[in-house]
Amino acid sequence: MKKVRCAVLGATGVVGQNFLRLLVAHPNFELVAICASDVRVGLKLASAKEQVDGGIPIEFADLVFDPIDVDVLAAKQVQVAFSALPADVAKEVEKEAARRGIKVFSNAGAYRMEKDVPILIPEVNHAHLALVREQDTPGFIVTNANCTATGLAMALLPIIPFGIRKLVIASYQAISGAGYPGLSALDILGNVIPYISNEEVKLRQECTKICGALRGGAIAAADWEVHAHCIRVGTLIGHLISVHVELQSEISLQEVQDAIMHYQTPQPIAGLPTSPDVPIYYLEQVDRPQPRYDVMLGTPPRTRGMAIAIGRLEVARNVIRFVTLSNNLIRGAAGGSVLNAELAHRQGML
Ligand SMILES: NC(=O)c1ccc[n+]([C@@H]2O[C@H](COP(=O)([O-])OP(=O)(O)OC[C@H]3O[C@@H](n4cnc5c(N)ncnc54)[C@H](OP(=O)(O)O)[C@@H]3O)[C@@H](O)[C@H]2O)c1
Repeated sequence: MKKVRCAVLGATGVVGQNFLRLLVAHPNFELVAICASDVRVGLKLASAKEQVDGGIPIEFADLVFDPIDVDVLAAKQVQVAFSALPADVAKEVEKEAARRGIKVFSNAGAYRMEKDVPILIPEVNHAHLALVREQDTPGFIVTNANCTATGLAMALLPIIPFGIRKLVIASYQAISGAGYPGLSALDILGNVIPYISNEEVKLRQECTKICGALRGGAIAAADWEVHAHCIRVGTLIGHLISVHVELQSEISLQEVQDAIMHYQTPQPIAGLPTSPDVPIYYLEQVDRPQPRYDVMLGTPPRTRGMAIAIGRLEVARNVIRFVTLSNNLIRGAAGGSVLNAELAHRQGML
């Protein structure tokens, strides 16, 4: 079958380079264009500084940066744009691309809270993809969540059927979450920063939208009470979250363990190239999950970094407590977008 022609916008950044890695030999997508800031135009991808293990894929090294101009993308017959742009740039570019018929799968926060734009995490809310039909453009914008909200929503997935009332969260977020070059070494080395601009608001708003219900062309957000502290720590990749969940009624440890351990990917997503065989790992060792050891979970190899981990599980009456870890650059960013596009492809929407 003919592959869908795609572009990566923001191809030099930490998320952009994960897109490149995931698009190598992808069965559905063919990378035909790359963009970054104006200074890159005309240079080869190989000239960019490597941001991920394994570096710039050799298959794409000779691609030349295009200007970030929708006319240029249209001339190259780009059908799908994977966006890893800063939010202010994304605000301009993504809407224009959708107006020109391009299907945009974005990591940026610019359009996440628009009422006709889904924040898609296929395992959690694959039905929300239909919301793009409310957009009045020939193309569309699908976003994925803030990287912390993604890990949280995935971890809540087996628990949602028990009836959630309240969440109290503390995140321990890696420095790669701030992009490259990100924080100054003087700020973060030997330090912990108990504030990340806008993160707590985003986490609250996005997780209730993601876990809400699509009714009559709009999403009714989940009516959970959510409290969050988002904290930057000196780890490289992987956002760890301590989660306290209050349910509407009592539950046993065994029931929660069973729900997590027997969780299975919903049928519409199962078998997609970037969908891991086991999306949620339950780790019984008392000192796991840890970013150093557990941030690249996922089989088969194409899905490494797409599975999340849950550990430190405790249940008392109607309260569940656990620690969860997800890869902010793969599950929380590039891999999430590629999975969203694969779902749209499977549903004939590209
Ligand atoms: N890092 C994460 O964990 C994470 C997770 C989820 C979502 N996100 C979101 O994903 C997006 C990318 O994040 P990142 O961490 O990859 O950031 P990053 O490392 O700073 O990369 C930003 C990319 O955008 C390009 N860019 C910057 N200004 C531009 C402009 N004016 N015109 C065109 N391109 C421009 C950069 O190109 P140059 O190199 O040429 O400047 C680079 O390719 C952001 O919206 C972020 O909020 C990030």
